[in-house]
Amino acid sequence: MSKRRLFVTTALPYANGHFHIGHIMEYIQADVWVRTQRLLGHEVHFVGADDAHGAPIMIAAEKAGKTPQQFVADIAAGRAAYLDGFHIRFDNWHSTDAPENHELAQAIYRALQAAGLIERRTIEQFYDPVKGMFLPDRYIKGQCPRCGAPDQYGDACEACGAVYTPTELRNPYSALSGATPELRQSEHFFFKLSDPRCVQFLEEWTSAPGRLQPEVVNKIREWFAKDKDGRGGLGDWDISRDAPYFGIEIPDAPGKYFYVWLDAPIGYLASLKNHFDKGQAANHWHAPSRTTQTFEEFVADPAVEQIHFIGKDITYFHTLFWPAMLHFSGRKTPTHVFVHGFITVSGEKMSKSRGTGIDPLRYLRLGLNPEWLRYYLAAKLNPRVEDVDFNPDDFVARVNSDLIGKYVNIASRAAGFITRRFEGRLGAVSPDGEALLDALQTALPAVAELWAEREYGKAVREVMALADRVNAYVDQNKPWELAKQPELAARLHDVCTTCLEAFRILTAMLKPVLPATAERVEAFLRCAPLDFANAAQPLGAGHAIAPYEHLMQRVDPKLLEALFEPPAPAAAPDAATPAAEGAPQPGGEAIAPTITIDDFAKVDLRIARIVACERVEGSTKLLRLTLDVGEGRTRNVFSGIASAYAPEQLIGKLTVLVANLAPRKMKFGVSEGMVLAASHADGQAHPGLFILEPHAGAEPGMRVR
Ligand code: MSP
Ligand code: ZN
Repeated sequence: MSKRRLFVTTALPYANGHFHIGHIMEYIQADVWVRTQRLLGHEVHFVGADDAHGAPIMIAAEKAGKTPQQFVADIAAGRAAYLDGFHIRFDNWHSTDAPENHELAQAIYRALQAAGLIERRTIEQFYDPVKGMFLPDRYIKGQCPRCGAPDQYGDACEACGAVYTPTELRNPYSALSGATPELRQSEHFFFKLSDPRCVQFLEEWTSAPGRLQPEVVNKIREWFAKDKDGRGGLGDWDISRDAPYFGIEIPDAPGKYFYVWLDAPIGYLASLKNHFDKGQAANHWHAPSRTTQTFEEFVADPAVEQIHFIGKDITYFHTLFWPAMLHFSGRKTPTHVFVHGFITVSGEKMSKSRGTGIDPLRYLRLGLNPEWLRYYLAAKLNPRVEDVDFNPDDFVARVNSDLIGKYVNIASRAAGFITRRFEGRLGAVSPDGEALLDALQTALPAVAELWAEREYGKAVREVMALADRVNAYVDQNKPWELAKQPELAARLHDVCTTCLEAFRILTAMLKPVLPATAERVEAFLRCAPLDFANAAQPLGAGHAIAPYEHLMQRVDPKLLEALFEPPAPAAAPDAATPAAEGAPQPGGEAIAPTITIDDFAKVDLRIARIVACERVEGSTKLLRLTLDVGEGRTRNVFSGIASAYAPEQLIGKLTVLVANLAPRKMKFGVSEGMVLAASHADGQAHPGLFILEPHAGAEPGMRVR
């Protein structure tokens, strides 16, 4: 088998926020694949970076009172906690604002220009005279030209679904300053994708057999298609933005910057270059042989495969713009772009802006095992562009019955006997055990192949089917019965040895997904780090193992409940401001730091009528409230007040709702706000929860100020 040489990336996340569960899913998918390749003995360079540039980040930084550089640096500082926490092992993590990227982006642009593929054109665009900047579409709002709905974005109407350009909006205004934008002319730079050379190249590149997933190729065909009037097809791509912009300056064009999507994928190369220049590519822990090439030699080497893992929303950029940029600047193009679907939570789309979904750090903080998530997602992933649903009940079932019940159990059932009865040494294996181990060894390359093909769900099912066979062998031989009969000691030794040899092979099979568990198993079995080749060799009779220590806990379903639980209705003790020395502590906590009236005005409190109220099955803490806030519809709100109120006590009553709180996806559904209740900070010593109720006369919808 010849050694593959791989350059692997995941999409570069925008540096305007922390990772969400969608990012973590992408990284886990890529990390499993990378670990597989390493276990097969291949050379892999796996890099990522923050996507630092663009108007939204510039604007977010301004709001936060930071320079964009400081803003993205602060986000970058938080990345390791997620990556380390979920055992996601990039070889390098860099930034698209790094010097390598500035140089590479300008060099690639110059090459495209020399190839005659850059054109300047004057376009008309909305300009914010107060902010002194051209406005990206999403910062222009106004009335929908079709249905008249107010406050719609510049590209589409959320009320009626109409799609339009910002210039079509009625009464447009700048979302940044509120000013009426002016149409102004500006010169922009375009990458001429409509050039016949580009069209021909991309048609060939995208249809190369095996390069892209079939459903991705179909999507691309739609993008290529022109209608009968010759409209549609590949349009030229606007790659410039005017100052002020956080980005990379366009050479010889003062005040012009590359649009963020021009320099973002070049960040893949920048991160790899940084990795090589640091010398880490040559002597990395996993590299079986040293890479003596320079960065430029490596990326130009026809033997090197370049592979990008991305989500379906950014397919256009990666399968059209990116290969064209590379090819026409004289560089090698990607070998594969592997596109995945989106993760949903209990069947609902997670929305970045609404902040729903599962918070990965909260997952870790609650003590949920990162390998449970890796295993669960692996069980659900396949090589197609399909969405993956995180379902809490399914999660508990798969982890507990498969991972623990089938796999971990094998070791815990056999190890004790070896330690107690045979001084921790393995024995001989008889023919029936050999037959079982043979079957596992034979399956090993097939399982490795499934991982390599990104058939993770199939791989997991195959491993669990093999674990079932091992458990059936245990049930037939009943070591706990053998142990009662001293004359059957040899058979007991034989059966338990077979189990542990089998467990070793299963561990190697699962190692791409469970790297930390595999390491603990290697310590327990006192064997060399497992890979897909050495796992076929038995430990052998006489081999001494370490005493068994529990490898993995079962999931407590309460932990998942906690993962989806809303913050407590009143300030919980851990949310309370730490008291200044000697400060009075009414209700058990010091008064929070002073805010301005403007801060308070941000909180929109409304009178709500509780039209329905019920217990939530599966939760002891929550009540489900149906609230009328005078909006012509009702809202669904979960509140952690079940310990204090029976549903009947609340129906028909008025209360106060935080009406503009971001909706929150919980295990039981979406909660659209929070009702106010009083409690003491120390709920143990001072129990009780008291819902707020207005004086008579208040009506649903009235604002509380
Ligand atoms: N910065 C660009 C990518 C530039 S690549 C040169 C970007 N960033 S992102 O932070 O919005 O998304 C990063 C990756 O996360 C993308 O591959 C995207 O598809 C993926 N996901 C974002 N939400 C997701 C889910 N809900 N589920 C799975 N992946 C998702 O796009
Ligand atoms: Zn509309």
